[in-house]
Amino acid sequence: MLRDDALVQAAWQAWANAYAPYSGLAVGAAVETADGQIFAGCNVENASYGLTLCAERNALAQAVARGQRGICRVVVVADTTQPLAPCGACRQWLWELAPAAEVILLNRQGEWRRSTTAELLPLAFDRGHLLGKTGSEAGNTQRAT
Ligand code: THU
Repeated sequence: MLRDDALVQAAWQAWANAYAPYSGLAVGAAVETADGQIFAGCNVENASYGLTLCAERNALAQAVARGQRGICRVVVVADTTQPLAPCGACRQWLWELAPAAEVILLNRQGEWRRSTTAELLPLAFDRGHLLGKTGSEAGNTQRAT
């Protein structure tokens, strides 16, 4: 049952602490490492709107700050009519720090959607491009004739 899932509960706890005075949209996120450690975060807005930190990036940063990588599961919660879809910046962060993760999106009504980081960000930009080696889908590249 999703409601009893510790990762879901951690995400809702963080959601309750969201700082969203401008948008009014509270978001919570929690990430789980392969050895079962959980880290949560909420969105943190700013009067200079563009400086806003999303819940997913906050949660990922909490894990990294404690020396944890290898994230296998992510939960994102919000009181929205449909489960909240992570923004593009957060998808990029997920690809960097949780590329093999299962991602569960959940709303207050208990409606949920299951996805993966890879499904959320096809044709991702990543370190392979920086190193001049392969990108995430280099195998599908065609050469112009
Ligand atoms: N928000 C998140 O926390 N995560 C997302 O993936 C989408 C957007 C937050 C940022 C802002 O505080 C509010 O939702 C409205 O955009």
